[in-house]
Amino acid sequence: VTRKRRKPQASQEEKSRGPYEIRQSALSVLHSQDTEIVVAGPAGTGKSLVCCLKLHCVCERVPGVRCLMVRKTRESLTEAALVTFENKILPVDHASLANGGQRRVRQAYHYPNGSQITLGGLDKPQKVMSTEYDIIYVQEAIELNEADWEALLTRLRHGKIPYQQLLADTNPDSPIHWLKRRVDAGKCRMIESRHEDNPLLYKLGEWTPAGKSYLAKLDSLTGPRKLRLRFGRWVQSEGVVYEGWSRATHLINRFHVPLDWERFLSIDFGYTNAFVCQFWCKDHDGRLYRYREIYHTKKLVEDHAKRILELIDLEAKALSYRQNPKLPIENIRSRIMPQMAICDHDAEDRATLAKYLHIPIVPARKEIRPGIEAVQARMRDAGDGKPRIFLMHDSLDQRDAWLVECKKPCCTEEEIDSYIWNEEKDVPVDEDNHGVDAMRYMISQFDLFGKGFEAPSSAPAAERKPPEQPFRLDGNSARPSRLFGR
Ligand SMILES: Nc1ncnc2c1ncn2[C@@H]1O[C@H](COP(=O)(O)OP(=O)(O)O)[C@@H](O)[C@H]1O
Ligand SMILES: [Mg+2]
Repeated sequence: VTRKRRKPQASQEEKSRGPYEIRQSALSVLHSQDTEIVVAGPAGTGKSLVCCLKLHCVCERVPGVRCLMVRKTRESLTEAALVTFENKILPVDHASLANGGQRRVRQAYHYPNGSQITLGGLDKPQKVMSTEYDIIYVQEAIELNEADWEALLTRLRHGKIPYQQLLADTNPDSPIHWLKRRVDAGKCRMIESRHEDNPLLYKLGEWTPAGKSYLAKLDSLTGPRKLRLRFGRWVQSEGVVYEGWSRATHLINRFHVPLDWERFLSIDFGYTNAFVCQFWCKDHDGRLYRYREIYHTKKLVEDHAKRILELIDLEAKALSYRQNPKLPIENIRSRIMPQMAICDHDAEDRATLAKYLHIPIVPARKEIRPGIEAVQARMRDAGDGKPRIFLMHDSLDQRDAWLVECKKPCCTEEEIDSYIWNEEKDVPVDEDNHGVDAMRYMISQFDLFGKGFEAPSSAPAAERKPPEQPFRLDGNSARPSRLFGR
């Protein structure tokens, strides 16, 4: 007997999202006709909701309007803004959802009256910039650089509504961020949004149960992260370890890593805290690029090891499909297999990894100061206008929902800004440092080798001898032929 599966019917309540209770700051956003506005404030105040709502209202009301919803990368838009838009704003059976495919590949929402909201990322600027718009909504504007912002401004001339607007939302960043400066200079209007503006958190003059538990989470943050996400302040982190770090320089767009680049893993173990595995590759000039990352709590090393192999398989398939259809997958797979995993020192966890990965598992050099200095040195311009370390955007495998909920960093680049020295300035504060530690292990392995650093004394004696396959900088370091049949 075959049973027809019926689509669950949406209840009347679900069909009409809302009603939204629109409070002070949100109301100003909806009414504002300024050319540049940014809605700024702590996490969870309803910034994204009101921006999405504005686009939707304008599109519903005026035929033929063209809007753009954009973020630094198209992929990051899927995770956040589109979820809010589809789950909180668009009615369940809205016509624009009928076609356009999955959220991840969707190009636009088309309204029956001819209005549309195009989706894009500044990692593919030609797509975004080839059209004109009435309203552009930039999510997490601090990720952009000022040139991106100014380029977007030139796209505002579709002229279907009486004003044209670049509307943005953001959590605060440093007080010298270009966006804050633009606000201070009077070029862009800032509308400050507060937790009290969100009816889920605050009602009839008191915090709701959801509000209390949300604020408790934000209260448990520390340092600049807390000042920004809990109190919405544009503050500089005091004593940042990686002062030379800049999103604009070191975070780069994704590209397919050539087959002949060497690859490595660096790993910081964790269960309650995040387990981090960074996938690195090295170009022919010795520059290092993190191109993939696992950053997740509460999973076993065994499961992470399996996932690492899966990710390598997936990449092999992608490379085979795109570039080398004639090469057998097995061949590609063996070529992109990392040469070694540079790891934290837990012996049992390392044994687990070795069992699955079949590559040399090398205990990391853990000297903190020299390691940090080596990373700092790589972040500096190497004399040719480029640093020697890069993180590719959107490297994260799966965003850990628990970390998202706690507003903790969810990948290495989210840690770097608030990785700070402790008061005595001898070591960094030991918190939210899982990705930065893995990054330091990686760089130490390369740059401290042969510079007289002993293997760490905390490692068991058997491990204190140098790894079996000493790592050399010349790029021809011994690849075990059983793994790399070349
Ligand atoms: N005016 C509102 N009415 C109903 N729910 C709201 C309102 N503002 C925010 N919310 C809800 O609060 C949550 C956080 O809102 P969001 O826009 O994602 O915050 P932010 O972008 O400031 O971090 C979302 O679940 C959203 O639906
Ligand atoms: Mg938001």
